[in-house]
Order: sequence, then C-alpha cells, then structure tokens
Amino acid sequence: MCGIVGYIGSREAYPVLIEGLSALEYRGYDSAGIAMVGTDGCRINKDKGKVDNLRKITSSCCMSGSTGIAHTRWATHGVPSLINAHPHTDSAGKIAMVHNGIIENYTSLKQKLAKESLEFTSDTDSEVLAQLIGKYYNGDLASAVRKALSEIEGTFGIAVVAADNPQVMVGARRGSPLVVGIGDDEFILASDSCAIVRHTKKVIYLKDNNIIELKPGDFSISTLDNRKISPRIHSIDWDPSVLAKGGFDHFMLKEIFEQPETVLNAMRGRLIQETGSARLDGLNLVLQELRQIDRIIFVACGTSWHAALAGEYMIEDIAGIPVEVEYASEFRYRNPIIDSNTLVFAISQSGETADTLAAMREAAHKGATVLGICNTVGSTIARESHGGVYLHAGPEIGVASTKAFTSQLTVLSMLTLLLGRMRRISHAEGTTIANALDQIPKQIKKILRQNKNIQEIAQIYHHHSNFIYLGRSYNFPTALEGALKLKEISYIHAEGYPAAEMKHGPIALIDTDMPCVVLALKDSVYDKIISNIQEINARGGKVIAIANEGDKEIENFAHHVIYIPKTIPMLSPLLSVIPLQLLAYHIAAFRGCEIDQPRNLAKSVTVE
Ligand code: M6R
Repeated sequence: MCGIVGYIGSREAYPVLIEGLSALEYRGYDSAGIAMVGTDGCRINKDKGKVDNLRKITSSCCMSGSTGIAHTRWATHGVPSLINAHPHTDSAGKIAMVHNGIIENYTSLKQKLAKESLEFTSDTDSEVLAQLIGKYYNGDLASAVRKALSEIEGTFGIAVVAADNPQVMVGARRGSPLVVGIGDDEFILASDSCAIVRHTKKVIYLKDNNIIELKPGDFSISTLDNRKISPRIHSIDWDPSVLAKGGFDHFMLKEIFEQPETVLNAMRGRLIQETGSARLDGLNLVLQELRQIDRIIFVACGTSWHAALAGEYMIEDIAGIPVEVEYASEFRYRNPIIDSNTLVFAISQSGETADTLAAMREAAHKGATVLGICNTVGSTIARESHGGVYLHAGPEIGVASTKAFTSQLTVLSMLTLLLGRMRRISHAEGTTIANALDQIPKQIKKILRQNKNIQEIAQIYHHHSNFIYLGRSYNFPTALEGALKLKEISYIHAEGYPAAEMKHGPIALIDTDMPCVVLALKDSVYDKIISNIQEINARGGKVIAIANEGDKEIENFAHHVIYIPKTIPMLSPLLSVIPLQLLAYHIAAFRGCEIDQPRNLAKSVTVE
C-alpha cells in the first residue's frame, strides 16, 4: 500500500527520503514522488513506476534542502500515472501533501471546490485534501490542516509542507498509520518504521485523530479538536540488518529460512514444558476471566485467516471451547452476536489491515474483550486491543506471508495449551504438546534441507496453469494457505479444498494437466486421504504428496513425495506448510515472477 516518508532537520533531506522510499517498496506501489522545500519554494518530482525511476529523474535536478516529503502510491482512485502520483498540491502551489487512505466524500468536496474555481489536475481523492489545506493556509500550516481535516470523511495518514516555510511539517492520521522517528535535531515521519530505523530507534506512534507539528528540534502533538497530547516514546526492538536480503535471492526465501528461529522466538519465555502449559501475560486477563470464556471469535484476512482456521481446529479439539473464524471484511458489516463471555482475537501480521481493524472495533463496540495477535509492535491493532500476544518474528518484507504464518500457528498452539490445561487436558497431555512444540524449530530446519528436492519438483510443474491443494482436518487450512502462496506469487490459478469436498464438484477439473498437492500425513484421516488420492489417480491427475517420514506406502500412489518429520496432529500445519511455501517460491522463480512484490498486491492492506 501507499508509503509516506517526511524529513525535517539539519541534514540534507533527499537521501533520507529516497532511502526511506526504498525501505517501503516491499509494501507494494505503482508510482513514487518527492517534494523538497527550501528558501526558493517547493520542488516536486514524481513518476509512474519504481523508486529507481524517481531516483534517476531526481539525480539530474536540484533536490537539496532539509525539509521534504515523499510517497509511494498504490492506486485506488485513478490509474497509476504521473499526474496521479503524490505529492499533490493546491492550485496556488502553497502547500504540498502526501496521503495514504481514502477520502470518502471527495466527490462532493471536489464539486464544491471546483465552483470556487480551484483547478484539479489529477483523478485522485487525495488532491481534494491538498486543495482544501491550500485554501485554508494562511501562514499557519497546522491550523490549515486541522480545518481541512474537519471536512473530511474517510481515512488518512498525511504529511504536509508549506512552500513558503521550510521550517515546518505537519502530519496527521486517522485509520492509516504514521510513526515519528525522533533523532538528534531531526524528525522522520513515516507510515512504517522500516523507513526510520536506520536513523533512530526512538519513535512515537501517532494515534487516530492526532496531528503533529514538526519544526527543526521541536514538535507538538494534539488532537484534531486541538487538545494537547503527551506522547509515549517507544523503542524499535529490531535491527536494520533485517531489511537486507542476507545472501538470499528474495526476502521471501530469506523469511522461509528464518522460520526455525522465528518460531522459537514466538515460544521464548512462554512455553512452560514442566507444567505442560504456556504463559501469555500480554493477554492481560486473569485466569478467572479466561476460565469464564465460553466462545472465541477470530477475525482476520488472508494468511492470518488461514492461521485462525487452524487455531479453530486446535482450540475446539484440545480446549473444548467453541470457535468461530470470521473474514474481518464480512464480520464488520454483519450484526454479529457477541456477549461478555465471548473473546475476540484479531489476528494480523501488520496490525494495520483496515478490515481487521474495523472488525475488532465493531466487536469492542459490542462489548467484547478484544485481543490482538500481531507481529508489528506498536501497530494500531496491537494498541487498540485490550491485550494480546506479539509474534516477535521481526519485519516481514516479502508480500507473501510465510514466517508470520508459522509464528501465528505457534502462538495459537500456546493459547490452545493454556486454555486446554485450564479446562480438560491433563498435565501429561499438556507436556506431550509442549514437548512436541519445542521440537518444531529443529524439524523445520530438517525440512528446509530438502529445498533442492522441492526446487526440482517445482521445475517439473512450473508451466502448469492450474493447481489443486487438498488436505483434511488440521491440514485443510494448510491446503488453503499453500494455494494462496502459489497464486499470489506465481499468478497460477490454485484452489485449496477439504480433500473429501473434491468429489462434490472440483473433481470435474482433474485431468492429466492438473497437479494436485495433497497433504497426506499419518493422522486419523490418512486412509481417507489415500482414497482421495486414488480418485485423482483414476482420472489421470498428478499427485505431489506431503507425507510423514517413513511412509513408504504413499509412494505407490503419488508421483512425487516430499517427506516431513512426524509431530502431533495439532502441530502438523507448522511443518506441512514449509514445503508448500518452498514449492510456491520455486515455481514463481522458474516463471520469472517478481516474488517479493507481486503485481497488484500490497503488504499491508490499509484500505477497505
Ligand atoms: O497483515 P495481515 O496479516 O492483517 O494481512 C492480512 C492479509 O492481507 C495477508 O495475509 C495477505 O493475504 C498476504 N499477502 C498473504 O500472503
């Protein structure tokens, strides 16, 4: 999604802005632009395409100065083009602004402003806000922004500069994240701390309806209705080195290979093998409150939704609590039934997904206790939840989520353990689960050693146009996730199904051109899965099976077998998803796709 970087301080702003934009590239975008303010006014450069294009056009023109704003745009209103790229200005060129989010009442505002003879040059909703700020600007930028925002409906994260005053920059947010990095005599305003961490680790996460006025060496934060705020200063807890590929061809591959460590990080200090339980202090719930829960709802999107679905299987099976898994985008517009004994979890890697955020707000509005399972520290979902659990997976840069998924599964396993031990599983059963979880990082490492073998299978199948992924029980969510990974990064059409559902329709698709990836693990549904594989074979389909080590029988039925170590059924998705991630990665690589930034996709979907 769109990215914002702003700089005001004592250094040259341009290198900070352009590097900042590069650090935000992973979020997905289609055009980029920059505005620098100096004593000679405001200079703007922008173009369609990559930040490198912008770098080229700006290298030959003067971009010096210590104040500037920059943007990567992900088109919502208006095609990706030079005119629609940000920064936008008002007709008189008094201000320049970059905007993330959507101005919902832009049509009526545009008509009104057009009647005042203001000329619009773009098709964007954002330009309306720039025009409004310009209209109200009279030397006090913060007041002009405040006044303009009072007329806006929708979401925004903005950075604004005034052409006649390089000594001020204003930022504001509602629904779109903004972080302020506090350096020595300088501030970096950004939509994501990835653009800040190289310069400072001291940050303030702006809250909704906050406005910040930045001057060299000084800042003040207030609400949009002009009440002063004393902000809390946080420290970024990860190292900028994670923003490099570290010898891997893509961030996605690096992140797949990080999983032994990220899964371990999610468990560290939380998994208690001695008691066969887990400590999740961040939930901020006393045991008595947890005991009273009689229903859990997970709201999430995409991969996080798949993790939630796996969580449903775990919690219902082991802890005996009814669980519902909801697409956040549906939940937010339904009229869900929630009572005080319902616990709602919002699961999100980014912690900024607009639909998930809206769903959790709806649940909170109805009186539910809402908890977050998030990766991004300080994200809006994390801050607005009553409590929660961080994944501690470090920034995930590849648009296709990998390490966040296994960390989410790890946290959900520990939640299951905690709830299960309070209700119906014994110390011995709890210890079995805790010990099995403890083994997972080593077992993932073992699967990763098969990378070459999986690459060879990918080479055989990379030219196919359709894939089916099948799984049952605990591995039905894994099948969905495997299919999503493949379609996201290789643009191959892939569908995930519960294996037995195939005969109710999808079996019509099976022919000699249809590769079927089947999760055939030695669990209670193994024999049933073998029958499903037979049905595929009978119709000439090609089977790539994910099976447990030592299962020789499967070789009689599958064209290719990828073996994974055995664990308890509840934890098997943590292992079975790894070959699926690698398979998708290698297929996309053979097809020459842009793996880390697939077309049309954004890392964090901050619009509806
Ligand atoms: O940041 P979130 O976990 O809330 O994101 C949810 C989805 O947008 C995300 O999982 C998306 O489906 C990924 N591209 C999956 O790889």
